Amino acid sequence: MTEASTESHQSVAALDTSSIHRDAEERLVHRIEELVRKEQEHSFYIVDLQDVRNRAAFFKSLFPQITPFYALKCNSDLHVLRALAELGYVGFEVSSADELELARDVMLSSPMRSTELRDIVFSNPYKSSRALELVESGCAVRALVVDSADELRRVSGTIRRCRTEGARPEVHLRIASDETCVEFPMNSKFGARPDEVLPLLQLASELGTAITGVSFHVGSGASGSAAFTRSIHRATKVCELARQHGLTLIRTLNLGGGFPCIETSLLHAFARDIHDSLPNQLGVGVIAEPGRFIVESSHTLVVQVIGRRRAKSVQSAHGDGVMDDHWQYYMGDGMYGSFMDVALQKVVFAPCAVVKGGTVLHMRSFIARGGSFALYKSTLWGPTCDSIDCIGTFELPALSVGDWLVFERMGAYTRSLTTSFNSIRKPTVYYQ
Ligand SMILES: Cc1ncc(COP(=O)(O)O)c(C=O)c1O
Repeated sequence: MTEASTESHQSVAALDTSSIHRDAEERLVHRIEELVRKEQEHSFYIVDLQDVRNRAAFFKSLFPQITPFYALKCNSDLHVLRALAELGYVGFEVSSADELELARDVMLSSPMRSTELRDIVFSNPYKSSRALELVESGCAVRALVVDSADELRRVSGTIRRCRTEGARPEVHLRIASDETCVEFPMNSKFGARPDEVLPLLQLASELGTAITGVSFHVGSGASGSAAFTRSIHRATKVCELARQHGLTLIRTLNLGGGFPCIETSLLHAFARDIHDSLPNQLGVGVIAEPGRFIVESSHTLVVQVIGRRRAKSVQSAHGDGVMDDHWQYYMGDGMYGSFMDVALQKVVFAPCAVVKGGTVLHMRSFIARGGSFALYKSTLWGPTCDSIDCIGTFELPALSVGDWLVFERMGAYTRSLTTSFNSIRKPTVYYQ
C-alpha cells in the first residue's frame, strides 16, 4: 500500500508489491477460495497472527534498544493483542478508558505478564474522568502523558489518590515534535511548545509530581528519519533543561508511533539514524508506540463486486473528444467501512488479486499476459449512497457481479475506523 493522491489513475503494475512469501501466499490463496464459497457475498478478513508476531520481532531486531508499546487505536483485535502480549516484550499504548480496560484484561490473562504491571502507557494527553478513576482504583499504568498545566494538575491528583502505592504511574511530558517531513502533523492538537516546557516542569515539581519522561508522536506519513531524529534532539534538550534547573531526572524517552512500512533496506538506514540520535546517557530507557508497523501486513480483505455500470467518459487528456471504456464497480465494503483512510490520510488501497469463478487470479497473471489481456480503467465505489464513498480508479480486468477483489496490507486503521453508515455489515474475520 502506498500513500498518494486518490485522484491519479493508479496502475496496478506499479502498485503490485506483494510481500507475502510463496508458501504463505499459497496458503492464503487456498483460504480465500474456500471462504468465498462459504461467505457467498459478505466481505471478510483473513488475519495472519504469525505475521503480527514476526513484525513485532522484526521491530525488536531493528531497534533492540527500544521497548515497543503497541498502539491499540491502530487495530484492537483481541487475538492480535493476545499474540503480542504473549511475546512478553511488547506493552500496550492506550488512549481511552475502554482501551485501558481492554489492555489490562489482555495483559492480566497473558502468561507472559510482568508482575509489576508496567506494560501500559496512556498517551492521550487528555483523559476522561473514568480513565483517571480506573487508574486511581488500581488499574496500573506505567505512565500518564500530559502537555498542559490543567491536565498536569488533574493527573497529579489522580496519582495522589492512587490506592495501590506500587501502581502509581509516572508522568511523561508530550512535546511538540519536529514536523518538517511529516504529511499529517499533530502539533496543532497536542504537544508542549518549547516555551511551555520549563513552566510545566516547574509546576510538576511544585505539585510534588515529578515529570520523569518525555514523549512525542511525529504523526503518520513521516517520509524519512528526520522527523524522529530532530524530535529526539528536542526531547534530549528537555532532559538537559530539567537537569540544569535541578527539577527532575528524565528516565524515559518515548518516540511515539509513525514508524514507516518501507522497504527493508531503507528501514535499516532508518533504524541506524534513530540509533545514532538517541542520547547515550545511562539510565534513560527508550520506548515507542508502533501501530501500523506491527499490524498493517497481517490483514487481507476480500470484497465482492455487488454491482457494475459501464460509463463512457471523455479522455480529456487528449482533448479530442475520444470516448474510452470506463467501468464503475460497486463493492461490498467502502470508505465508510474498511477504507476510511482513503479520505483521512489519502492512502491508496489497490487490489492485488481478483477472484473469478472461485479462483484467485493475482494481478501479476493479468500483467504477465501483456497486451493479450485487456485492462480497463475502473472506478471502485463503496456500498453506501454517498458519492464520496469511492476507493479510487485503477486499471483492472473486466469484472462481473459476484467476482471478488483482494486487498492486502489491510491491518492498520481499517477495522478500527469502520462506521455503521447505511448499516453495512462489518466484514467477518478469520484467523490463520
Ligand atoms: C500517541 C500515538 N502513539 C502511537 C500512534 C500509532 O501510530 P502508527 O500507527 O503510525 O505507528 C498514534 C497514532 O495516531 C498516536 O497518536
